[in-house]
Amino acid sequence: MDKTPIVIKDVYELQCLVKTQKNHGKIIGLVPTMGFFHEGHLSLVEKIKTYCDYIVVSIYVNPAQFSPHEDLDTYPRDLKGDIEKLKRVGVDLVFTPDCKSMYPENYQSFVCVRDVTKPLCGNKRESHFEGVTTIVAKLFNIVQPNIAIFGEKDYQQLLTIKQMVRDLYFPVKIISGKTIREDDGLAKSSRNSYLSSEDREKATIIYKALIKSSLEVKNGNLKTPENIKIFAANIILTVQGAVIDYLECLDAQSLKTTESLNKPVVLACAVFFGKTRLIDNIIIK
Ligand code: PAF
Repeated sequence: MDKTPIVIKDVYELQCLVKTQKNHGKIIGLVPTMGFFHEGHLSLVEKIKTYCDYIVVSIYVNPAQFSPHEDLDTYPRDLKGDIEKLKRVGVDLVFTPDCKSMYPENYQSFVCVRDVTKPLCGNKRESHFEGVTTIVAKLFNIVQPNIAIFGEKDYQQLLTIKQMVRDLYFPVKIISGKTIREDDGLAKSSRNSYLSSEDREKATIIYKALIKSSLEVKNGNLKTPENIKIFAANIILTVQGAVIDYLECLDAQSLKTTESLNKPVVLACAVFFGKTRLIDNIIIK
C-alpha cells in the first residue's frame, strides 16, 4: 500500500520531527539524493529500510558540487514525480531544503577531505568533492541519522564520505548500495536522460569494457593495473565519439596508484558521449 511521506523544507521543522522519532527509540536512516529518481535511488531506499525504522530522503541539487561550466542549470528535476515514486517504496519524510537555507548570505564553511578526493573525478571536477562533503556533513548535522546510504556507482564519493565520517567522528554508520543497471549493462543515472538514442546505444560500451577487463584478469591474461587500463581504454575507443575523460585502475581502498594485483583494484572511468559525461566502475579482486 502507498504511504505518503511528509515533505519538509524547513531545517528546524525537520529537526523537531526527527528528534521526536529518536526519542521514541526509532533508528533513523538517511538517503541523500539530488532527486530525479531511477531504480538506483529506490534500491537505496529499499536497502536502508531493512536497517531503520524511520526513513528520511533528502532531495537537493547542491550547487557547491558543480563547477561553473557544468550542468547545474539543466540537471533534471522532478519533485512531484519523485514524491510519487517514494510513496510506492514507503519513506517517512522527504527533506527538500532550498539554497537560502543551505548556503545563506555570507556562508563560509566547507569540509575538505584530502588524498582520496585527488584522483579520478577529483582531478577533473574542481572543488566537486568539497561541495559533496560539505552538503553531506550539513545533512548529517541537520538530520542526525543513525545510518546513511550511498550508491557504489559513485565509488570515489562513497570512499570520501566514509573517510570524512571516520576522520570527523560523525556518529553515523555508512552503508552502500549496488550499482543498478539497465538490461544492457548501462549504469542507471539521472544523467542518462541527456543521451540521444544513438549515444545511449554507444554508452553500453562502458560496462562491456569493465566486464571484459575483469574477465581477462580472472583468466590470467591481464596481470597489472596498467595492462587493465590499456585493455579497457582500447575497448571504449572502438566506439566512435566516445571520449575518455579519465580511466584508471587504482588500489580500491586508497585510490592510490599500484603496480600489483595483490589487493583489490577499482577500474573506474568517466566517458563523454557528446556533452554527457557518464561514470562507472568495477572492483577487481
Ligand atoms: O550522489 C549524489 O546524488 C550527491 O552527490 C549527494 C550525495 C546527494 C550530495 O549532493
